[in-house]
Amino acid sequence: LGRPRPRAAVAVVAAALGGLAIAQTAEPPLRAMRWAPADADPLRAFGQAPAECLKPPAEPALAQKVEIGRAAFRTPVVLGGQAARAGLSCESCHRSGRGNPDFLFPGVSGAPGTADVTSSLFSSHRGNGAFDPRPIPDLGGPKSALKVKPEALRSFIHGLVVEEFDGPEPPAAVLDGLVAYVRAMDPAYCAGNEGPVTLAGLMADYSRALAAADAALAGGDRPTAVLMVAAARARLALAHERFEDADVRLRIVAEDQLLAELQDRLRGGRRDAAGRLAERRKRAGALEAALARYEPASLFDPDRLAEAAKRRLRAGPS
Ligand code: HEC
Repeated sequence: LGRPRPRAAVAVVAAALGGLAIAQTAEPPLRAMRWAPADADPLRAFGQAPAECLKPPAEPALAQKVEIGRAAFRTPVVLGGQAARAGLSCESCHRSGRGNPDFLFPGVSGAPGTADVTSSLFSSHRGNGAFDPRPIPDLGGPKSALKVKPEALRSFIHGLVVEEFDGPEPPAAVLDGLVAYVRAMDPAYCAGNEGPVTLAGLMADYSRALAAADAALAGGDRPTAVLMVAAARARLALAHERFEDADVRLRIVAEDQLLAELQDRLRGGRRDAAGRLAERRKRAGALEAALARYEPASLFDPDRLAEAAKRRLRAGPS
């Protein structure tokens, strides 16, 4: 967003396809279309989100951890290397923390809905040389169906980020947050949470990520605050790709630019960072209102989404 389109993702996919000249074809409008079968039901894969099964923590300190984890779960830069460059986050595979029956990433997936997380495509550490895709587990399903015991989650997720995905060492609060988020998932809390992917939903996540940034900064944890702003930017990017109107896109890019500058100020320990962050939080409502007017003419609209997916099907080689 705001920068030239990343080539790496195309390179990864092209390499994974054995050098097929995929770069010649039109890029799909939504990034997630790159890791879904060409004939995936567009409404299921891109128009709807499964229920998030999250038990709201009663204790405020734990609630704050879960918020950090929830935002980090949706942020590509948490994963490093090829995965981050391709735009993958935890949520790309575990949609709303669940599975993803439409996940198909060349060289990483076998059947749709599976992934080999020891794939050397993502990792310089762990690539085990064997192609061993597994079904993506539903983290919001019954705990008895999960393999990793609660007490082992921290080292498991640390290994996932740092070794499987070659990510940078996450701030401790981010790792603790991811663990708290996964632990807070509870099948008793899924009901009624599924629904369409909407601007309002993305902007609610956006505001939650900025609130988490604020809380982290208030606690003196600048690296976590920087990452939470990255989480907010990742939500803006998902809104951006659904709009075709040039003015709306510019408006989003301008906001994103301010957030990028805010990250620089946070990194540099600038005193005015807190004020700037407060300003961005205050502007979120006006930004959403400005974008909402164009929502009916965007790929948030199911008919337009289905049409865009069809165009992609006609253009695509896979
Ligand atoms: C490329 C897809 C992919 C991404 C991205 C991904 N996962 Fe997973 N995840 C999987 C697969 C596949 C498994 C099952 C691995 C196995 O069975 O050996 C898994 C397993 C897990 C488990 C263990 C579930 C159990 O059975 O106890 C947890 C927890 C988890 N992932 C959390 C995360 C978190 C947190 C992130 C982001 C930091 C993440 N995953 C990113 C595909 C993915």
